[in-house]
Amino acid sequence: MRILSGIQPSGVLHLGNYFGMMRPSLELQEKGEAYYFIANYHSMTTLFDPAQRRENTLGVALDFLACGLDPKRTVFFRQSDVPEVTELTWILGSVAPMGLLERCTSYKDKVAKGISFNFGLFAYPVLMAADILLYDSNVVPVGRDQKQHLEVTRDIAIKFNEQYGETFVIPEPHIQDSVAVVPGTDGQKMSKSYGNTIDIFGEEKAIRKKVMGIVMDSRTPQEPKPDADKNFAIQLLKLVSPPEVALDYEERLRAGGFGYGDLKKALFERYWSYFAAARVKRAELVANRDYVEQVLADGAARARAKAREVLDRAKRASGLL
Ligand code: TRP
Repeated sequence: MRILSGIQPSGVLHLGNYFGMMRPSLELQEKGEAYYFIANYHSMTTLFDPAQRRENTLGVALDFLACGLDPKRTVFFRQSDVPEVTELTWILGSVAPMGLLERCTSYKDKVAKGISFNFGLFAYPVLMAADILLYDSNVVPVGRDQKQHLEVTRDIAIKFNEQYGETFVIPEPHIQDSVAVVPGTDGQKMSKSYGNTIDIFGEEKAIRKKVMGIVMDSRTPQEPKPDADKNFAIQLLKLVSPPEVALDYEERLRAGGFGYGDLKKALFERYWSYFAAARVKRAELVANRDYVEQVLADGAARARAKAREVLDRAKRASGLL
């Protein structure tokens, strides 16, 4: 079974990314042959600062390796190191019905917002289809927001197979909606666009400040809180501490006599120790950039061998070869 997923290098990764996407992907490494790549071509549709793209790309690589991506098992690479994907994008684009792409909500939302729109944004799902089909991927773990893109991928693959004969493996989505919604510091879903994130590898003082700033209500410490399970700090605590510890804090809050300040201090300590080992690993990697580059180069070489095989198959099927 080949598992494939892409991660956009759009900024510093936060707890929402970690529990929503990274941890489930890292767990899946055990289940088959995983291909994980940093989607730097996709980032070109919305990010126009070259230094930022480089920095974000390296950041994603460091974060994944620090959090347990095993580069011996998993093929880990930069999307643009396998340029075959752009060639396949053209081939697929020429069988992708216009109406199918026009129906994509990610595209429609952006048009509705009136943001300046480039061809790349419109073609985004075709590039994503190429990412997936290029490696005969069977399983694609993504968040709910990417479900439609996966359906587009399947439609394009079926269309190509009908037109030119059996060529592509039809992938199955693996929608991760069992994972808890991670609340941000304001209680909305944690997301970069809301400015409510807590980074995985933030600087101690800054993160402590953010955690202490998590929005609470104005009830006094003494008051019992029958709705303790709805408390955002409790919800975060459940992610970064053993269940019995989180439950204990929840009970204390429920009973009354336990203040929000102490709760947030406990949350910070748990968060900090949850990532302690990964933090050490990341610092080692930062000091050993050559190793990180080597991992990505090796991943690209392995990915490219598979990519050439599948691309050739598609070119033969369609009469390019
Ligand atoms: N579009 C995905 C996202 O924004 C990233 C991505 C690019 C991807 N190519 C992919 C995910 C292929 C899965 C498979 O999250």
